[in-house]
Amino acid sequence: MINDIKEIMLTREQLAHRIAEMGQEISTDYAGQEILMIGVLRGAVIFMADLARAIDIPVAIDFMAVSSYGSATTSSGVVRILKDLDETVEGRHVLIVEDIIDSGLTLNYLLENIRSRKPASVKICTLLNKPDRRKVPVEIAYNGFTIPDYFVVGYGLDFAEKYRNLPFVGILKPEAYNL
Ligand code: PRP
Ligand code: MN
Ligand code: MG
Repeated sequence: MINDIKEIMLTREQLAHRIAEMGQEISTDYAGQEILMIGVLRGAVIFMADLARAIDIPVAIDFMAVSSYGSATTSSGVVRILKDLDETVEGRHVLIVEDIIDSGLTLNYLLENIRSRKPASVKICTLLNKPDRRKVPVEIAYNGFTIPDYFVVGYGLDFAEKYRNLPFVGILKPEAYNL
């Protein structure tokens, strides 16, 4: 698995340091309130688990599954809801948590969907932002790292369901996805 990685982009220490900062920023911004963190399955799971523990105000967590990629490396632009929320959104402060924003199509769809359920507020938090590939604008409230357009895996991000459990974010060797 590690042999398929060309280069480590973000070490586990860099990730932990930045996520601690993000948790503090979120805790300050929402002081005295409660938030509903909505993780986008499956990529956001690892980041969300660490981010939630870096936040020191009350949080509820829930998940949605929307897929636009399948096992291809580029977005098809097709967004499907595979799993809806268990929690109600109305009147709550929602923080949508993503591992990466690429074309923005997933988040663009999700944001409209959540807004229609009348939350008190809704903001987006992403670990990685890849603006070079944006197709629709997305307003990001909390951004971990802005990265160049390399195909990255690890820390939740997969290629064909592999590599999510790597503790760092790495650049995949082209021969690992040009199968
Ligand atoms: C990836 C990633 C984001 C989305 C970003 O998910 O985790 O959710 O694509 O792409 P976009 O900005 O172009 O919409 P994917 O559909 O691969 O599902 P996964 O999280 O289960 O890997
Ligand atoms: Mn995803
Ligand atoms: Mg994926």
